Amino acid sequence: MHRRDFLAGLGALGAYGLVGAAERADPLRGPDVIFVPTPDEVVDMMLKMAGVTRNDTVYDLGCGDGRIVITAAQKYGARGVGIDIDPERIAEATENARRGGVADRVKIIRGDLFEADISGATVVTLYLLTDLNLKLRPKLLRDLKPGTRVVSHAFSMGDWKPERTAEVAGTTVHLWRIPARKR
Ligand SMILES: C[S@@+](CC[C@H](N)C(=O)[O-])C[C@H]1O[C@@H](n2cnc3c(N)ncnc32)[C@H](O)[C@@H]1O
Repeated sequence: MHRRDFLAGLGALGAYGLVGAAERADPLRGPDVIFVPTPDEVVDMMLKMAGVTRNDTVYDLGCGDGRIVITAAQKYGARGVGIDIDPERIAEATENARRGGVADRVKIIRGDLFEADISGATVVTLYLLTDLNLKLRPKLLRDLKPGTRVVSHAFSMGDWKPERTAEVAGTTVHLWRIPARKR
């Protein structure tokens, strides 16, 4: 699905109003954005732009059906950690990792991406919304090791300019690198 359709879908749902409903019996709140899978071609571009190798640990924050971390494990031999708040997505991603033969390299964790421990990542992938990227930005800069690559499908990071941007399949992929800490 292209960014245009994704945004139209969100608009139809009343964007944050309906998809962000927080009042649930469940101790975890509802998702901040609905599940829309990244097309395979775009997944490949994200992993290529990040330069993923078998030495990487790829975290997908809001992992959906797990396709990004599963592909990272299958194609590059990387380790993957997928985090999602939606139990349906967790069940789906866990099953997909098992079926894809990478359950030993891919961990799927239910949790809120804003609260998760992401310090083990060497690559972080995102397909959220610009507002969520902006809210996440301080955590990325604080918790990730310098040199960690961050790739986002479609959405930017405001005035944090990407190191590289590429067009693929009618959408955009951005790459940033966590800078060295200022002393
Ligand atoms: C647009 S989908 C992207 C799925 C996947 N990363 C991909 O690119 O194919 C966003 C995902 O983020 C999840 N999500 C939304 N808010 C979240 C939160 N606060 N913590 C964890 N996951 C969240 C949704 O459940 C959904 O699966």
